[in-house]
Amino acid sequence: MRGIFASALSSLLLAAAWADHHHGSNVSHSHEGEMSCHKLSAPNADFAFTLYKSLSANSAAGKNIFFSPLGISTALSMLSTGAGGETHSQLFSSLGYGTFNQTQVNEAYEHLFHMMGHSQEHQRLDVGNAMALRSGFSPLEKFLKDVKHYYSAEIFNVDFTNPTDAAAEINRFIANKTQDKINNMVKDLDTEMAMVLINFVYFKGQWKKPFNGDMTRKMNFHVDKTTKVQVDMMMRTGYYNTYWDLDNHTTVIMLPYEGNTHMMIVLPNDGKMKEVEDYINKDYVKHWHDSVSMKYVNLFLPKFSITADAPLENSLKEMGITNAFADNADFSGMSDVKLKVSKASHKAVLSVNEMGTEAAATSIIEMIFMSKPRSVSIDRPFLVFILEDFTGSILFMGKITNPLAM
Ligand SMILES: *[C@@H]1O[C@H](CO)[C@@H](O)[C@H](O)[C@H]1NC(C)=O
Ligand SMILES: *[C@@H]1O[C@H](CO)[C@@H](O)[C@H](O)[C@H]1NC(C)=O
Ligand SMILES: *[C@@H]1O[C@H](CO)[C@@H](O)[C@H](O)[C@H]1NC(C)=O
Ligand SMILES: *[C@@H]1O[C@H](CO)[C@@H](O)[C@H](O)[C@H]1NC(C)=O
Repeated sequence: MRGIFASALSSLLLAAAWADHHHGSNVSHSHEGEMSCHKLSAPNADFAFTLYKSLSANSAAGKNIFFSPLGISTALSMLSTGAGGETHSQLFSSLGYGTFNQTQVNEAYEHLFHMMGHSQEHQRLDVGNAMALRSGFSPLEKFLKDVKHYYSAEIFNVDFTNPTDAAAEINRFIANKTQDKINNMVKDLDTEMAMVLINFVYFKGQWKKPFNGDMTRKMNFHVDKTTKVQVDMMMRTGYYNTYWDLDNHTTVIMLPYEGNTHMMIVLPNDGKMKEVEDYINKDYVKHWHDSVSMKYVNLFLPKFSITADAPLENSLKEMGITNAFADNADFSGMSDVKLKVSKASHKAVLSVNEMGTEAAATSIIEMIFMSKPRSVSIDRPFLVFILEDFTGSILFMGKITNPLAM
């Protein structure tokens, strides 16, 4: 069966409720120059690593971290479309968009979704946005127009006075967009909710070089010095873009998917995870991208499926997005009614599976090379990135400490 080899998806909610007070005025920055989606690549990557560091610092030892940087940047940009004053400038400076204005950012996202829409035969990538609006509540026409036009947002009405039904309806929407992989995303909705902004990212790719299921064996994965778990370890011998970065204590290997996407695995040397997490940024990733070369390797990669919730609110506040959550939030571009963000939730799922029958032939062909392969064994905590090359986007990133942890 040539089925799913790896998939990752996520969903983010930003719930806006009535706020108590209101002041401040809106500001827009002006900047010269045409905006294409590539202009988002560097600021979005910086945002991703800053967010990663905050999530990692705030999460318990041994916990997996996995999220969609692209999804989170998108949802916050959609939110900033309706923000003004300090609320807007905090969002923009945290997102790294300080030199752009909202129109430029909106146009860049429109371009990005357009580029990603060219879906390939073997890859499925859906990035989408939606807004669940309180029945009877009308946001400003311009805000609705902008989120529909630039972010292709689907807009639907829900009755928040009945929070159970409203949650069920939103959950059905998200489950549908994520092929039933993300369920029960919202619970405990407030009856005072005005709207919920939703972003989802769904990716399903096939390895260009699938693994042979017959080679999969139970093997140890060393969660830490004293804990090991037994995982289904896939094995494949063949050519992979690989780099041993001795100075920086890490091994990097890239596993391409059919299409424009690849998985980059960053495997710190024993005991070096903390050090790698501390230094890692987009320049290291670029350095590794530029340094890898085709090497004949014996790759051992666990087959696993994890779900991670990212407690976003604290991290966003640490990154300087505080005003949006406060009673004096300025969403004057959304509505004449005073609103604030009451909740930000993010959930992501990653499954890494093996391969189909056609694959067996592929690995056998490569077996005839007589040079002795060097082993790359992903048998201890590692960092994982799913990168889209066409637009330079980090679709997903995370740290897998324990492939068996739920
Ligand atoms: C700022 O707010 C004022 C009044 O609320 C509105 O007329 C103006 O269009 C807003 N500007 C932007 C850039 O949203
Ligand atoms: C945003 O910047 C562009 C390019 O500098 C400019 O043409 C446009 O008028 C600006 N838009 C707003 C709303 O300030
Ligand atoms: C999602 O909804 C669409 C339209 O109603 C439907 O065609 C599709 O089968 C649904 N997908 C899932 C996974 O439920
Ligand atoms: C370690 O990382 C730095 C920063 O990216 C880079 O300049 C240096 O070349 C790396 N060392 C090796 C051996 O690649």
